[in-house]
Amino acid sequence: MEKYFYLETFGCQMNVVDSERIVTMLGEIGYQQVATADSADLVLLNTCSVRDKAERKVYGHLGRFKPIKDARPELIIGVGGCVAEQEGEKMLKEVPYLDLVFGTHNVHRLPELVQQAEQGNRRLSVTGFLDQETRLNLFPQRSDLDTVTRFVTIMQGCDNFCTYCIVPHVRGREISRPSAEVIAEVEALVAQGVREVTLLGQNVNSYGDKSSGEIGFPELVRKVAAVEGLLRLRFTTSHPKDLSDELIACFGDLDNLCHQLHLPVQCGSNEILEQMNRGYSREDYLLTVQKLKTACPDIRLSTDIIVGFPGETEENFQQTLDLVAEVGYADAFTFLYSKRTGTPAAEIVDKTGARIKQQRFERLLELQHSTSRNIWESDLGECFQVLVEGASKQGEGQMFGRTTANRIVNFAGAADLIGTMVDVKITQVYRNSNLGELQNS
Ligand code: 5AD
Ligand code: SF4
Repeated sequence: MEKYFYLETFGCQMNVVDSERIVTMLGEIGYQQVATADSADLVLLNTCSVRDKAERKVYGHLGRFKPIKDARPELIIGVGGCVAEQEGEKMLKEVPYLDLVFGTHNVHRLPELVQQAEQGNRRLSVTGFLDQETRLNLFPQRSDLDTVTRFVTIMQGCDNFCTYCIVPHVRGREISRPSAEVIAEVEALVAQGVREVTLLGQNVNSYGDKSSGEIGFPELVRKVAAVEGLLRLRFTTSHPKDLSDELIACFGDLDNLCHQLHLPVQCGSNEILEQMNRGYSREDYLLTVQKLKTACPDIRLSTDIIVGFPGETEENFQQTLDLVAEVGYADAFTFLYSKRTGTPAAEIVDKTGARIKQQRFERLLELQHSTSRNIWESDLGECFQVLVEGASKQGEGQMFGRTTANRIVNFAGAADLIGTMVDVKITQVYRNSNLGELQNS
């Protein structure tokens, strides 16, 4: 008998990769993915706890499935990801119709849990961190997706303990995957038709730092870039304090390393950076940006910024605005600080009112929107190499791909272009994507 599962994924790329793995593992035990929960035998939420009232939101989402469970008590409902890791068994107590809770280090146990639940053994929770050796054997492997671009996990966890951040508490200690395994995976992906790879980790720049005898990140980047047939390489996320000169040199030296970098700054004030435990000053950050622009003049930068960290003054915030204006980010993900229980920043007394924080947030957004618009509009009429990824949502006969700067471009073209690099002239610039015309090569 066919069995169906419905999966919702929240949060970062780590969760997206974990979800790909979940799809593959569930396929192996006879489950097919469906687009709505109504007809599913199994419903899963892969959750994120980085921001906002994440736990409450998950409980809210789960409520949507209660009527389905009431009508079909055999439905299995499970929660994974960072909220599951954080809340554990407590979730089973709070949600009487929840069957499975699986934490960030226990995704691999999902098939076994689902099979137990099928046999009536429900209300199961597996959380807690695994030892290093077990984790090394459990790195997400290549899935059977058929895509031109793919993420390859090279490290997991985080040891940085930025004072606002829950990640080190829910993803555990930093661990790097052996370089030989990473390279073998990239080779296998390329053999299977993948043309672009993004090396993925919470802080890829410190790859290899924690395991003796292994190569560092710049060397890994060079080795992966050398894999024959790999047209493009990206990596994320970079921590400014670990972005070395050797890595910056890669942007000037390697033809297939894309001219784009996500470099979260979080804030422009030294006082706040210190309280965030970021490990760099405003001056350090600006120097790194300068070096990147020298090595790769057309590099497009993006960032993450937190507004309203406890104790942030108008002057501190102004320094963030100044830094944003100076760097000229092509894109920025802006967040209002939200208190994460168990982190040091949650203990800092915060006298700034919510209205002031909201106003600062909007001022930053306004500046960023106009900067982004100016940067992307400068591409108008220019020609770019686009790696074609697939059919566009824009309609029949439309394809989409990305530029080296990671900008989505939609254009009229044939499906046999998928997986190839084509020249496209930009004819329209929108908020999040461009429209272009295919050029005859
Ligand atoms: N409040 C607001 N934003 C946060 N981030 C992480 N923790 C918090 C928090 N407590 C943001 C940071 C990080 C991004 C993934 O989420 O900017 O880079
Ligand atoms: Fe969180 Fe800081 Fe680690 Fe990023 S580097 S995951 S913000 S603790």
